[in-house]
Amino acid sequence: MPHPGPAPWWSRALFYQVYPRSFRDSNGDGFGDLDGVTAKLDYLKTLGIDAIWLNPVMVSPMADNGYDVADPRDVDPLFGGLAALDRLTEAAHALGMKVTMDLVPNHTSSQHPWFQAALASSPGSDQRERYIFRDGTGPDGLHPPNNWVSIFGGPAWTRIVEADGNPGQWYLHLFDAEQPDLNWDNPEVFDDLEKTLRFWLERGIDGFRIDVAHGMAKPPGLPDMEGVKAEMLLADMDDDPRFNNDGVHEIHRQIRTVFNDYPHSVAIGEVWVYDNEQFARYVRPDELHLGFNFRLLRAEFDAADIRGAIENSMAAAAIADATPTWTLANHDVDREPTRYGGGQVGLARARAMAMVMLALPGAVFLYNGEELGLPNVDLPDEALRDPVWERSGHTRRGRDACRIPIPWDGDTPPFGFSDTPDTWLPLPPEWAALTVEKQLHDAGSTLSFFRRAIEIRSSRGEFDGRSIEWLNSPTGCLTFQRSGGLVCVLNAGDTAVPLPGGELLLASDEVIDGHLPANAAAWLA
Ligand code: GLC
Repeated sequence: MPHPGPAPWWSRALFYQVYPRSFRDSNGDGFGDLDGVTAKLDYLKTLGIDAIWLNPVMVSPMADNGYDVADPRDVDPLFGGLAALDRLTEAAHALGMKVTMDLVPNHTSSQHPWFQAALASSPGSDQRERYIFRDGTGPDGLHPPNNWVSIFGGPAWTRIVEADGNPGQWYLHLFDAEQPDLNWDNPEVFDDLEKTLRFWLERGIDGFRIDVAHGMAKPPGLPDMEGVKAEMLLADMDDDPRFNNDGVHEIHRQIRTVFNDYPHSVAIGEVWVYDNEQFARYVRPDELHLGFNFRLLRAEFDAADIRGAIENSMAAAAIADATPTWTLANHDVDREPTRYGGGQVGLARARAMAMVMLALPGAVFLYNGEELGLPNVDLPDEALRDPVWERSGHTRRGRDACRIPIPWDGDTPPFGFSDTPDTWLPLPPEWAALTVEKQLHDAGSTLSFFRRAIEIRSSRGEFDGRSIEWLNSPTGCLTFQRSGGLVCVLNAGDTAVPLPGGELLLASDEVIDGHLPANAAAWLA
């Protein structure tokens, strides 16, 4: 169904993902917080973003940095409590920016009162029925109920000790053992989520990014999985019994009814589903408004691969007449300069890819620090905080390398991120060259480049229109034209190529004699 009336605000919005514990620390405890975000809203306004997406700030023991929620209707004191969120929302709205939050419906924290009650009660009780408890298999239930593995490594089941002191049932956790999966077959689970949604939407929150939106429904009988696929990103999830089960769509339809009571709000699903038809089901008119399509993020820096990712993302959205989404980075994946080869080449490619992404029709998501060209940071073992490190038996280092705090100003760590040098993850000394302050004063910096690109995207009519057309281009390159007229050229080859005619609006690297160098992109009107 085409959207009646004017397009909704999110249909071409530029979202900016704030990883709150790494953005700005206002109280000197070494962790970023919400007053820190409020203090930096002017920066976000000048960057030109439309909406903020906050990673989880609800009450949490922080086993998975907030993706283990113990009270979904309150803000953790680490982030400044509910009052700090209200201050942020009010200030952001005053500046014309929306605020969206992370919502974690697939699991809770093991410290959530529901899970504590489940532990204290007996097998088969109503309390246990809110989670996925099963008896073990084999003699004395010694083995887990099935062979599922956790995304973070190790088995997806943990055995509990019953009230009588004996080993008892097992519970399912697709992630950390501190993140028990909820039983979405139990209507109480949706009822509670509805309360949570209304609680925040009534407070003025503009929408939610829904965590593991392809994960809530579990298949009847919990059949074994074939092969061992741990990481979400690497696995082709489409035939994995842990995810993308049919029942999930009824859950999204229920969730959507709540959003419909708040017509300006948006639901954005984290959907690690590859197949276009399967993906499209999540963004049908009565399910999610938007779904993260991760194909572009998964693409190599290769023209054919990138073109395939764009074509498929657009095709998947088109099946449901939904808005495409684009993202190259988030708190779960290697940062682009590192992913695209590291060093100056990696950074050049990251800038070029940002131009490709910003040229595409639909909603775009930036991840804090992307606009500074921050790379991954290699951390020593003792600095690692991601539960993946422990759960994988120290075989996977986890995601801390892309979660380093933002360098704001000054010449030594923590570069204005915090008043204490003892920050939750350390900032490397070489980031002295990458601080916001330095980059703001350098017209050639990555930050200045992003500001210019974002300004052009939001102000020029060439960026209008919902479709793109592929134009001929030299080997190793890709060229597309927006229906509004913009031409975007990416040179993913080895040598400079001549640019087509037209007014050069922006290039990610120096254009010499009408030639675009390798690892660069250009916009033409
Ligand atoms: C999502 C989040 C990730 C988190 C996981 C479990 O994939 O993006 O950071 O660890 O869900 O909630």
